[in-house]
Amino acid sequence: MTESSRNILVTSALPYANGSLHLGHLLETIQTDIWVRFQKLKGRHCIYVCADDAHGTAIMLKAEQLGLTPEQQIANIKAEHEQDFNDFLINFDNFHSTHSEENRHYSEEIYRALKKNGHIAEREITQLFDPEKQLFLADRYIKGSCPKCKAPEQYGDNCEACGATYSPTDLINPQSVISGATPVEKSSTHYFFTLPKFTEMLKQWTREGSLQNQIANKLNEWLDSGLQEWDISRDAPYFGFEIPDAPGKYFYVWLDAPIGYMASFQNYCDKTADATFDDYWGKDSGAELYHFIGKDIINFHGLFWPAMLESAGYRKPSAIYVHGFLTVNGKKMSKSRGTYITARNYLDHLDPEYLRYYFAAKLAGGVDDIDLNLEDFIQRVNSDLVGKVVNIASRSAKFITKGNEGMLSAHIADQPLWDQAIKAGQNIAEHYQQREYGKAIREIMALADATNEYFDSQEPWKLAKQEGQQQKVIDVSSLCINLFKVIMTYLQPVLPETAKRAAAFLNAPLEWPTEITPLLDHKINKFKALMTRIDSDKVDKMVEVQKEQLAKEQANAGSATKENDAAANTYEPLGEMIEYDDFAKLDLRVAKITDAQHVKGADKLLQLTLDLGFESRQVFAGIKSAYQPEQLIGKHTVMVANLQPRKMRFGMSEGMVLAAGPGGKDIWLLEPDDGALPGMKIQ
Ligand code: 2FM
Ligand code: ZN
Repeated sequence: MTESSRNILVTSALPYANGSLHLGHLLETIQTDIWVRFQKLKGRHCIYVCADDAHGTAIMLKAEQLGLTPEQQIANIKAEHEQDFNDFLINFDNFHSTHSEENRHYSEEIYRALKKNGHIAEREITQLFDPEKQLFLADRYIKGSCPKCKAPEQYGDNCEACGATYSPTDLINPQSVISGATPVEKSSTHYFFTLPKFTEMLKQWTREGSLQNQIANKLNEWLDSGLQEWDISRDAPYFGFEIPDAPGKYFYVWLDAPIGYMASFQNYCDKTADATFDDYWGKDSGAELYHFIGKDIINFHGLFWPAMLESAGYRKPSAIYVHGFLTVNGKKMSKSRGTYITARNYLDHLDPEYLRYYFAAKLAGGVDDIDLNLEDFIQRVNSDLVGKVVNIASRSAKFITKGNEGMLSAHIADQPLWDQAIKAGQNIAEHYQQREYGKAIREIMALADATNEYFDSQEPWKLAKQEGQQQKVIDVSSLCINLFKVIMTYLQPVLPETAKRAAAFLNAPLEWPTEITPLLDHKINKFKALMTRIDSDKVDKMVEVQKEQLAKEQANAGSATKENDAAANTYEPLGEMIEYDDFAKLDLRVAKITDAQHVKGADKLLQLTLDLGFESRQVFAGIKSAYQPEQLIGKHTVMVANLQPRKMRFGMSEGMVLAAGPGGKDIWLLEPDDGALPGMKIQ
């Protein structure tokens, strides 16, 4: 197959329309955009679509909180998201919305097909209902005390203190997080997608080699332990599409979210006539389809989505490319540390290409988390891009502009060096293709080093002062400029704007056929600065602004209109008041985490070994969603040291670690200052 006959459709996960983009979103879209730009540079017909994920309870509540209709809210956010993505140089061919006619069409069509094929089951279920808001409550909108260990403030599905799983109707003193009302039980009809019927198909599909090993293994664990039918309906009021022939029932947001990929593509086809829907989505389509996603949503993309496509008679993805999470300075992004950096705040202070480069330098094809270390970020970008790459052009250009009226030499001064640079292109292309961008960047920087070393070894600045050495100066500088062209061509998917400025300087397009050709006897333009160094003050300012933003949010959260910010889940109503004597019973101590391990069979728990100075304790803590075990080792935290040991499913737990936050990825350990020694009592 020739490169130009390859038809490729690429997607990034659709961001929710209830909030601003942050750098975590950008990790994914930058990863995808680099890949797409590489495909296009290689002459492949590659189309990149995305959309806002506009449905669901969270968006409905957010709009209500802001005094907007959901339609107004999602229109505002869409405009904001598009501007942010655009400013980060994310080159979508189309950006649409799941709240669109195209999406309604495909969602209804797929649902009808599922139903016709006997893949929709219908049954009554009982759920908790908020009598004040007249709303069924998803598990995350209910809190109460754990039926097993009585820990207060636990969410509706499991206890983070003891690891018990239960149904929200088992909670003691349940409360609606939205209104504070006591929920009542209410039953209603729900529709289920009969996922277990696709077990065999999925076992085969996940082993066909199109998934990363870790992902295929994880999906197979789920497949082996048995799939459950998937509840795809929600009761009114719900912001979404009403289910055909089921008044008052709506598609669950995750049913129509991936269909949004199709909807955005259909919208693109209608606008451009560049492609037809069936050529890409038809069962026998020869096109390639790739979804870039984060590791938190592989069940939707690796199980539900292919099963739906299979039932409805569409093709399945060629592959799903999963990446890890973003951490900042080695920790989960945190609002209080100012490292929960929004896309706009970054753009207000820094050039998007700095981040594109840094992410590229750190990305690999696996699912490991990526750390944005702000010190390293400054150092790496300045030293690699400004110190090495741009430096080649700036130091060589003057000998050509002044010394030869802008004309490059007619021959290559050092053929082996040139051949080495061209040959490296094969590896670099393969690394891009495999999403091993870090490896590609290492090879490109090795070429930049080799070029600078060559320039230094030839000492053209000395030759320029010697009689009869003019041609040599021009030859050496011309080769360096040609090597700069090769390097910038390789970097073009990562640095599209700098590449444009480089092309203007070189007076030639940057193309990447199998073999890049040198510019010989060719006139270049005057060199202008291609990129400036990162000013560390700007990075500090960005972090400051983010902290100020948090302070503002907290001040607003105190005001009446934002009191019930269930979507953000940041503030919760106060629990029951206790007497001082109750408090005085708590023996709070500083503990050092000396070991942290995953717990087999527990989704939320980590097994911690805590050193109290005078003895060591084993504690199971429900903080796995927020921390990798290795991030915890060596940290000091605060624990309740006089809690009766409790027998848990996984072993004895001898205390409780104190943490703050609404849950999920937002759990912060209480971290005493470094001066706090294990065993110290908290006063
Ligand atoms: O997890 C999320 O942010 C979802 N909005 C992603 C949806 S991806 C696709 F399926 F639409
Ligand atoms: Zn419990």
